Parts: sequence; C-alpha cells; structure tokens
Amino acid sequence: MNSKDNVLEIKDLKVDAHTVMGTAELLNIKHLEIKTGEIFGIIGESGAGKSLLALTILGLLPKNVYVKNGQILYKGEDLLKKSQEELSQRIRGKGITMIFQDPMASLNPVFTVYDQVSQVISRHNPGLSKKQLYDRVIEMLELVKLSDPENTMKKYPHELSGGMRQRVLISMALSAKADLLISDEATRALDVTIQAGILKLLEELAEKLGLSTLFISSNMALASTVCQRLGILYAGEVLEIGRVEEIIRNPRHVYTRSFLSSLPTVEKKGKPLPIIKGIYPDPLNKAKGCIFADRCPDYSAECSQNKPTYHEVIPGHFLACIKEEKHKPSSDNDMD
Ligand SMILES: Nc1ncnc2c1ncn2[C@@H]1O[C@H](COP(=O)(O)OP(=O)(O)OP(=O)(O)O)[C@@H](O)[C@H]1O
Ligand SMILES: [Mg+2]
Repeated sequence: MNSKDNVLEIKDLKVDAHTVMGTAELLNIKHLEIKTGEIFGIIGESGAGKSLLALTILGLLPKNVYVKNGQILYKGEDLLKKSQEELSQRIRGKGITMIFQDPMASLNPVFTVYDQVSQVISRHNPGLSKKQLYDRVIEMLELVKLSDPENTMKKYPHELSGGMRQRVLISMALSAKADLLISDEATRALDVTIQAGILKLLEELAEKLGLSTLFISSNMALASTVCQRLGILYAGEVLEIGRVEEIIRNPRHVYTRSFLSSLPTVEKKGKPLPIIKGIYPDPLNKAKGCIFADRCPDYSAECSQNKPTYHEVIPGHFLACIKEEKHKPSSDNDMD
C-alpha cells in the first residue's frame, strides 16, 4: 500500500518520561499506519500506553513525558516537527480530533448544543448567514443520527444521554472537518445498545465521508466488531498487527492468544479463565530483548538477548516475535 493511502503513519516512535525514580520507557512503536477511511483498533490492558499514544499524536503529552525519537506522519507531514502553535491552529480539533470516555469533559455545560456546534461551523465557514448556519447545524446533527435535531440543539449537555453527547462531539469534529478521529475508550461507559449505535455511526461515517478512526480499547470483542485491523499493544510496544479476522482466528503472538483466551465465552462458563503468569513490565526497568519474554511459555535464552525484529509474516500481518514459527494457534488454556 502506498503511504499516500495512510492518514497517519508512525515510525520508530520512542516516548520516555522523567520520573523521580529515573527514566521510564513508555512507548516504543516500530511501525503503525492508519489507512484513510479505516477504523483501526489499538487494544491493550490498562497501563499499556493507549492514552499516551493518543496524546503523543496530538502533541499533548504531560510535561515530564517527551518524544525521544521517531516520526508521526499525518497525511505526510511530521507532527513531531510542528510547533504547539501550528498544532493548535491547524491540526488539533481540526484535522485530528479526540473523543473520551467522559464527553461532559469536552462539552461546555453552560452552552446549548446549538451554541457549541454552530460555533465550530462558523469558525470553519465564516460568512454564513444565520439561516445557513442553522441549516448546517441541523445537517450536522442529522449526520450523526441524533433524533429530533431541532429539539436536541436547544438542550444543554446535562440534558442529553451519554450516547447523545458523544454524537454531539462527533458532529463537532466533523464540522471542524476532522478526518482522523481518536476514540479513547469513548464508548466504555455506555450501555451495550447505545455503544453499538456509536460503533455503527463510526462505520457509516467511514464509508460515507472517509473518516478514519483510531479506536482505542481494552475490549477486544468490542473492537473486533467495528475495526478492520487491530494492533496489540503491550507495555508500550505493538506486538502484532493484522486484519481483525486474522488476529481473532489465527493470532500469532502468544500474548494475543492469551488475551483472547481470557475473554469470557459461553463455552467457558463455570471454568476458571486462564491468566498470564508473571507480572506486567515496569517502564522504569524494561527488558533488553522481547518485552513479553519473562511471561512467555515459549521462552528461550535468545528471547531476552535481542529485541525481535518487527516483520511481516503474511501480507499485512506484522509480528514482533523471534519464535513465531512455534506460535501456531493452540488451545485456549496454554497460558496457565
Ligand atoms: N506523566 C507520566 N509520567 C510517568 N509515567 C506516566 C505518565 N503518564 C502515564 N504514565 C505511565 O505510562 C503508562 C501508560 O499509561 P496510559 O495512561 O497511556 O495507559 P492506558 O493504556 O491508557 O491505560 P488505561 O486503559 O488504564 O487508560 C503507564 O505505565 C503509566 O503509569
Ligand atoms: Mg487510557
């Protein structure tokens, strides 16, 4: 695939943090791309570095966290070379927008939906008449499938449900002409049916407008219903990337398999769910070799000597494992 087809491309990204205990190595991502119009999922446990990845893309890292190395190409432009001023004027909230688990945090409680959506539209389309602006707000609210837009736009954020608030935020992102949406666990707090509605909306917007989404989640089952490809993040490193069907049916990394086998299913009812032995890596003391080595049942000495090269095992499927030949799919319980 030509890199022009990618809305975002990350290369050799290393993100560290100064802490009182020393330097913490938080992200080390060899290569990751999000194709135009794609919903790409980043899946990882709590602390894997999902939110930090989103904040790095947006140039919003906490003060003690810094990019040590790498490139983040947004439509070919390296975001890491841009000043904060340029990021805030041209990129953040415009080209790339983020939605969070708590939409109230991003909406202003003292303004109505109309005020907030119309403000974004007029900023991007100066000179619209009052009537044109009103029609555009209706159009944007209809685009995100908010029922009864005329009534909804008169409401304040606290009068809306969580799902409706997320839809308002998505409509604001689209009004700002964003083409990459980062959803950081944005549907986590919603009821299952409301959640499904938002996921369906993301799919429709991808198809209709070519909107690309970085869908961040710790829920593999949920992500696999909406994403085309998934990247498995473990302790700041992407261990495997592939099409959803491949990741689910034929996971090649032992960590991906363990993640999948720990998902509850009807067949596993009454049986204990497998757990991964060992402890999660400490960012202050990262392993020199494979980041998963000390928890891996297929471990051998070579695993802790060198970092596995990140390589393509079948077209479009990338893996960081020295011993991938041994990592054939096996039974659910091989982790315990
Ligand atoms: N400012 C900081 N200084 C040092 N370490 C940090 C800082 N912010 C985050 N971290 C560490 O970076 C790692 C990744 O954090 P992050 O918030 O990205 O995880 P996450 O995958 O989003 O987890 P969750 O699913 O709980 O939201 C964690 O180990 C966290 O403790
Ligand atoms: Mg997070």
